Amino acid sequence: QTVRLLGMSGSIRGQSYCTAVLRSLQESLTGRVDLTLFPLNDIPPYDPDLDSENTPPSARDMRQAIMESDGLIVISPEYNYGMSGVLKNALDWASRPAMRSPVKGKPILLMTASPAFTGGVRAQHEMRETLSSMLGRVIARPQVVIAGVHEKVKDGRLADPDTLNFALAAVDDLLAEISLLRMSIA
Ligand code: FNR
Repeated sequence: QTVRLLGMSGSIRGQSYCTAVLRSLQESLTGRVDLTLFPLNDIPPYDPDLDSENTPPSARDMRQAIMESDGLIVISPEYNYGMSGVLKNALDWASRPAMRSPVKGKPILLMTASPAFTGGVRAQHEMRETLSSMLGRVIARPQVVIAGVHEKVKDGRLADPDTLNFALAAVDDLLAEISLLRMSIA
C-alpha cells in the first residue's frame, strides 16, 4: 500500500526556498512515496468563533488532507527566531478539535531552511513544542536544518546533493515510523 505523505511549507512566497525543498523531495520520492503539497495561502487567521459556526473550507480541506495522510513533512523558514506566523496559524487550525485533532498520533518530520548559518534551528525547536502540544508523533531525529539555503536552491529545486540525501534519509526515518505504527495497529 503506497504511503501518502502531506507536505506543508510555512512560506507562501513564490520563490520560497522551503517550498523548493518540498518540491525536490516530492520529485525524488516519485514512484516510491506519494508526497502531496498543501499550500497554506488560503488559511485565514484562526478564530474560534468562525471555527464553531462555519469552519472555512480551506481549513476543513487541510484537516481532511492531514487526516487522510500517513505522515506529514512540515518545513518552515525562521521568522524572528520562531516558525512563520503562516505555519503557526495553520497548525492552530489543525490542532482542533482539541485532543482528537487530525494531528494526534500522526508521524511528523520537521525541517527548517534559512540563508543564515543557523538554518532556522530555533524555529525548529518551536515547531517541535507546538506539534507535541497537539500530540503529534514528531520524529526524534535527524533534525533537518538547512543552512545557507540560498546557495543550495537553484531554479526552484534543492540542487545540493548532500543536503537532498540528508533530507531523504530523514524521510526514511519517517517511513520507518509509519511502518511501525501500521504494524502496531494492524
Ligand atoms: C526572516 N529571516 C530570518 N532568518 C533566520 O535565519 N532567522 C530569523 O529569525 C529570520 N527572521 C526573519 C523575519 C522575517 C519577517 C523575514 C521575512 C525573514 C530570513 C528568512 O530565513 C529568509 O527570508 C528565508 O528565505 C525565508 O524562507 P523562504 O520564504 O525562502 O522559504
